[in-house]
Amino acid sequence: MAYSYSPFVLLLLLLLLPFSLSAAVATATGHEYTAPREKMTHLHFFFHGRFASPNATAVLVAVPPGRNATFDTFGAVIVLDDMLRDGPEASSKLIGRAQGLTAQASLEGTHLLMVVNFEFTAGEYNGSSLAILGRFVPDVSGTERSIVGGTGKFRMARGYTVGNVYIWTASYFVLELDAYIVHY
Ligand SMILES: *[C@@H]1O[C@H](CO)[C@@H](O)[C@H](O)[C@H]1NC(C)=O
Ligand SMILES: *[C@@H]1O[C@H](CO)[C@@H](O)[C@H](O)[C@H]1NC(C)=O
Ligand SMILES: *[C@@H]1O[C@H](CO)[C@@H](O)[C@H](O)[C@H]1NC(C)=O
Repeated sequence: MAYSYSPFVLLLLLLLLPFSLSAAVATATGHEYTAPREKMTHLHFFFHGRFASPNATAVLVAVPPGRNATFDTFGAVIVLDDMLRDGPEASSKLIGRAQGLTAQASLEGTHLLMVVNFEFTAGEYNGSSLAILGRFVPDVSGTERSIVGGTGKFRMARGYTVGNVYIWTASYFVLELDAYIVHY
């Protein structure tokens, strides 16, 4: 007598097959990793810096030996604690600080290497930060800088910022920044 499954048993086998297969895969290695979905966040804000005393937000801390250097002398290093605001006015809401340093790292022209942390202190990203690495070219629009990492909501971040000169005077400046951040 031929051995045959009843239609009901066949249906049950078909329904259970995917589960038994995936269970077999899971127990086979136990080390499957599913990467979280990435998202893109676009932030638009303003970077305010003040060269002049009192209340300067940038100080020249090191100059090449034997030179009366300014910030654009090759080798000069500045430490900065600039302000991130949600608008271009000095009274615009403070949303974070840009803390780090620049070094005039170009023998020709003024192309500062900028290594700075954007530490957000208000709003949705309060407590999170972005690590920025790139060129700072005074008074030039369209400069891109790399986002090489982040913390908090910006863990594992990468991306770039684009800066446009909004105000540039001898005593202070305002840059308009767009940050395009890929993160989890
Ligand atoms: C410097 O900071 C002090 C204290 O915050 C403030 O009262 C003063 O107006 C500031 N001066 C300038 C020129 O911004
Ligand atoms: C730096 O400037 C001071 C004052 O202007 C001057 O006396 C000195 O000779 C300068 N030093 C150098 C190395 O240029
Ligand atoms: C930002 O977070 C800190 C620490 O959690 C908190 O003390 C502070 O009040 C927050 N600031 C704003 C503006 O939400």
